[in-house]
Amino acid sequence: MINNPTPQNPEFQIIEGNHSDIYRGGSFEEVAKMLFESMPGFEEKLKAGGDHVNIAVDDQGKKLGWIHYVEHDLLDGKPWLKTMEVDENHRRRGIGEALLRCALANLPSDSPIYTMPISPGAVRLLKKIDDPRVKW
Ligand SMILES: CC(C)(COP(=O)(O)OP(=O)(O)OC[C@H]1O[C@@H](n2cnc3c(N)ncnc32)[C@H](O)[C@@H]1OP(=O)(O)O)[C@@H](O)C(=O)NCCC(=O)NCCS
Repeated sequence: MINNPTPQNPEFQIIEGNHSDIYRGGSFEEVAKMLFESMPGFEEKLKAGGDHVNIAVDDQGKKLGWIHYVEHDLLDGKPWLKTMEVDENHRRRGIGEALLRCALANLPSDSPIYTMPISPGAVRLLKKIDDPRVKW
């Protein structure tokens, strides 16, 4: 069960997803194919490391955005906000903020959380949320 601190929004809800939901059909498709299809059990191994994909969906189940984060990375043991994306036609309606708040509510409260924002929008979003755990 996801810990989602954002009040219910009639336009979307946040559900648990998996890697194929986010990397299929996107720029990560080839990498995902290599990792998940050539290494059976890889996704399960990631999940055992506290790896999460949360997806914002509308009332028809259509995917509007997602966030990928990890409680303790298998390589370095640290919590990471890996990446996130909101569908171009659904931006600036609070979906990204709700996804990020959800991820932060599910990450350790007593540890720095690392991230690497790649867009001005992501930087502004992180500044707006202003969680002292988040380092970039
Ligand atoms: C970054 C991204 C996820 C934000 O999603 P979103 O649903 O549009 O964000 P929200 O509507 O929840 O915005 C929340 C706050 O973030 C900031 N913000 C979001 N997008 C912004 C933009 N393009 N320019 C300036 N500020 C922005 C604002 O402070 C905004 O609050 P406000 O609307 O009250 O001003 C989305 O723009 C996206 O998918 N970008 C492309 C992929 C990407 O850059 N991902 C991040 C990888 S690290």
